[in-house]
Amino acid sequence: MAERIIEIVNLNFDHDGISVLEDINLVIERGDFLGIIGPNGSGKTTLLKIMLGLIKPKGGTVELFGVNIHHFKDWFRIGYVAQHAINFDMNFPLSVFEVVSMGRFSKKGLLRKLDKKDLQIIEDALEIVGMKGYKNKMIGELSGGEKQRVFIARALASEPELLILDEPTAGVDIRVQKEFYDFLERLNKERKITLVLVTHDIGTVTSRVGKLVCMNKRLFPGCYADESLIDVPIEGMKLIHHLHGE
Ligand SMILES: Nc1ncnc2c1ncn2[C@@H]1O[C@H](COP(=O)(O)OP(=O)(O)O)[C@@H](O)[C@H]1O
Ligand SMILES: [Mg+2]
Repeated sequence: MAERIIEIVNLNFDHDGISVLEDINLVIERGDFLGIIGPNGSGKTTLLKIMLGLIKPKGGTVELFGVNIHHFKDWFRIGYVAQHAINFDMNFPLSVFEVVSMGRFSKKGLLRKLDKKDLQIIEDALEIVGMKGYKNKMIGELSGGEKQRVFIARALASEPELLILDEPTAGVDIRVQKEFYDFLERLNKERKITLVLVTHDIGTVTSRVGKLVCMNKRLFPGCYADESLIDVPIEGMKLIHHLHGE
């Protein structure tokens, strides 16, 4: 059996007394390319933030790499590209190189100097996302799709074993989206990075991911059966059906 990278058991969460996540059970194994789909407000980002230790779970348990999240310290093993990352303040005077090097510091600690190996890893991350020639450009000069790649390079620079992407293609045009999904497939297959991709873009994601869960506060049956994830394909129609709870 593959190593369990994330294991969530009976997770519940509320914001100010309003229930957001109910009885979530989810296992993510090494090598998975997992899609999580659900409408706006269904709790997708909240679930990711719990996996990332950004908010504390209330009921239930979360284990990361076999360690209870309360004791987990190796955060550099998990890369994260936040929702709306590309909308962040683009007047910030940072070059592409500087943005990607932040990913290195998350692994080494802020006060350490970058050495030769770090510089090589930064170069490689830029190469993987096809942005090597843009190293010295200012982040504010890039298109939405290019910024997206830079933020992924930043996440890759910490050499994550798991990469979590929250609605990464929102605001990126369709043509670029196809390339982007091709790129994610390569990261997963060739670089063996476990991927979690959250989206409300049902159309594209179903044909791309290896496993799929639908959520709307809960994880829905039909996408998710008992304690083991079932593989797609699930036709788009059936999915929409689940999401609307009809
Ligand atoms: N910081 C917060 N305080 C109160 N409610 C929140 C907060 N963040 C999210 N919510 C609520 O939690 C629910 C789930 O939000 P979210 O996880 O962002 O959903 P999604 O990512 O699926 O769109 C929504 O109803 C949202 O309004
Ligand atoms: Mg969200």
